[in-house]
Amino acid sequence: MNFDVLTLFPEMFDALNSSIIGRAKEKNLININLINIRDFSKDKHKKVDDTPYGGGAGMVMKPDCVYDAFCSIENKDNAKVIYMSPQGKKLDQKKVEELANEEHLIILCGHYEGIDQRVIDKIVDEEISIGDYVLTGGEIPAMVLIDSVARYNDGVIDRESIKEESFANGMLEYPQYTRPEVFEGVRVPEVLLSGHHENIEKWRREEAFRITNLKRPDLNKK
Ligand SMILES: C[S@@+](CC[C@H](N)C(=O)[O-])C[C@H]1O[C@@H](n2cnc3c(N)ncnc32)[C@H](O)[C@@H]1O
Repeated sequence: MNFDVLTLFPEMFDALNSSIIGRAKEKNLININLINIRDFSKDKHKKVDDTPYGGGAGMVMKPDCVYDAFCSIENKDNAKVIYMSPQGKKLDQKKVEELANEEHLIILCGHYEGIDQRVIDKIVDEEISIGDYVLTGGEIPAMVLIDSVARYNDGVIDRESIKEESFANGMLEYPQYTRPEVFEGVRVPEVLLSGHHENIEKWRREEAFRITNLKRPDLNKK
């Protein structure tokens, strides 16, 4: 799967060089191409923002730099263009699964007061938010999106673990335990040591239901 990211701060994406996503990149299971919008500034000081028409606080990212950066992306006819925005649809597992079916995502990251509306209207297919709060830029939201979507790509993580995870079947996941058998006087639930797969499955289903009721009763209602 290919991700093209339009950003003013490509260095922030170094965080995706570690762990599971870092390995997926190394193995070319996913491809993350970072496009620095500043490289497309026509200004001699590489300015990419300006004051808002109508007055008010902050700076707005200029439409021409963003558009030229977008136009530099090759083979984008079938790509879906997403603008990370607090005004977008809130990201959830269903949306993640839907986006994982795409082959090419172009992700636009805003900064400062945001981006001139004209270029958003021209190039963006969908706005996505990572929650009802405002961050300084779209880079962290873009990383959240890439990480959550990339996990669904073949070979990135074990398919089985996705099936059982929180939200996969409308519930939260059951609690997990590992060695040692006794930690600070607390034993691992006996059933998990029994080797009886049916009983383990039953316990896990019941625990998933109990925990969902406790932490997210809204999910069980659904
Ligand atoms: C400070 S925000 C701009 C907020 C904008 N002035 C508003 O009130 O809607 C700067 C950039 O951060 C990103 N951003 C901030 N919060 C976000 C969120 N919750 N989800 C996704 N992107 C977000 C967007 O790309 C946005 O253009």
